Amino acid sequence: MTDLLTPVLCENWGTEKSWKLSAYLLSGGFSAAKKALKLAPADVVGIVKDAGLRGRGGAGFPTGLKWSFVPQDNPNPKYLVVNADESEPGTCKDMPLLLASPHTLLEGIVISSYAINCHTAFVYVRGEVVHVARRLQAAVAELHEAGWLGKNIQGSGFDLDIVIHSGAGAYICGEETALLDSLEGRRGQPRLRPPFPAVAGLYASPTVINNVESISTVPSIIKNGAEWFAGMGTEKSNGFTFYSLSGHVKRPGQFEAPLGITFRQLLELSGGMRDSHELKFWTPGGSSTPILTPEHLDVPLDYEGMASVGSMLGTKAMQVFDETTSVVRTTLRWSEFYKHESCGKCTPCREGTWWLVQLLRRLEAGEGQEGDVDKLLAVTEDINGLSFCALAGGAVACVTSAVRHFRPEFELGYTTPAWESFPYERSAVFIKDRPDGQSEGGRV
Ligand SMILES: Cc1cc2nc3c(=O)[nH]c(=O)nc-3n(C[C@H](O)[C@H](O)[C@H](O)COP(=O)(O)O)c2cc1C
Ligand code: SF4
Repeated sequence: MTDLLTPVLCENWGTEKSWKLSAYLLSGGFSAAKKALKLAPADVVGIVKDAGLRGRGGAGFPTGLKWSFVPQDNPNPKYLVVNADESEPGTCKDMPLLLASPHTLLEGIVISSYAINCHTAFVYVRGEVVHVARRLQAAVAELHEAGWLGKNIQGSGFDLDIVIHSGAGAYICGEETALLDSLEGRRGQPRLRPPFPAVAGLYASPTVINNVESISTVPSIIKNGAEWFAGMGTEKSNGFTFYSLSGHVKRPGQFEAPLGITFRQLLELSGGMRDSHELKFWTPGGSSTPILTPEHLDVPLDYEGMASVGSMLGTKAMQVFDETTSVVRTTLRWSEFYKHESCGKCTPCREGTWWLVQLLRRLEAGEGQEGDVDKLLAVTEDINGLSFCALAGGAVACVTSAVRHFRPEFELGYTTPAWESFPYERSAVFIKDRPDGQSEGGRV
């Protein structure tokens, strides 16, 4: 099974002090940037386009195409903003990458900035991860020292500075236009489009916003060529990516592998479900993507495969749940998250997520009333498509998909508390007082 893995971004994670510039250079770091700085910027855009890299932040928009939208005749400065907000439940790929090898992202920023003619790039880091922001800042300082940032980088005539900006910890600030407002010092709320950021983004100037993994993938493409990258994955979903497995699997973690492999293969890589338990449901890409069940184990994990079964690839964050888990409780927890993170700008999302939580709470407590499940679905219809940004779509998707696959379990909430049918301690991954008396705090 292990020959399925394609360690590219994580290849150097095991080296001594992998986050230091010296270690990164020893593993061949910055050879791609050297190569790119000798090419014309438009050629760099062309290589990334030909590779077929699609944004790894969730929507899968082609990265090279996005770069080509930047109007080079606009007299304003051009900006690159890297989205390191990573706050979606289940999504946990960018932070490990930044901790283990911040220079992979920074090399990607040098190349991408050069390609779009940007001289000041920003990394917007999730507020809670102070340790990641510090690591990035230290890495930026190392690059200045080594002449890889500042004026006339490596004698190329290209100038670049990178600003590391910490957010204040709001999921909505991962939405690219809310991120821009937050970066400008305003309250982070989504902007009306058009104009799109490529035309009028940060400080009303042309701006490219890309995910950490997207930009970190660029050096490997420049180094190995577009064909090498396009040779992996599937016809329309090229290359490799991080799959993040969490929950009831034996070995949770990051698995770097081509797009288009199946969840069954990933489960095998992660050692399978914990002993004596069976898969009940899973998310293909974090809590915003409709849940799937064991019947979807062999669907290709690419943009097209997931769409064909009514879901989305999203951030490829698989939260894995076994038969001990109450789907009502899980959906309630996700809904509580969306209610808390709704920015309040528009009524359907602000009020609707509140109502979803009220209904799910009474279903979890076994205090639901006949018709509550239909009411739940009616509230999702009042939210979906009537809200301002995609946060609302995610809040709805976890509820509608859970009801679609497990309606009888929701209806059980008219009579029976979820904790009676699915006691907490049975589904806990970490538990203090294990019934069998084994080590405290261990993985069950
Ligand atoms: C509520 C919400 C939260 C988001 N959070 C993130 C995030 O943390 N990181 C990210 O890269 N994209 C996030 N996105 C997607 C971004 O809006 C944007 O599509 C992405 O940064 C573009 O990068 P890419 O083209 O490289 O994927 C979020 C979108 C929404 C609606
Ligand atoms: S959909 Fe929700 S998060 Fe998005 S703008 Fe409206 S209230 Fe804010």
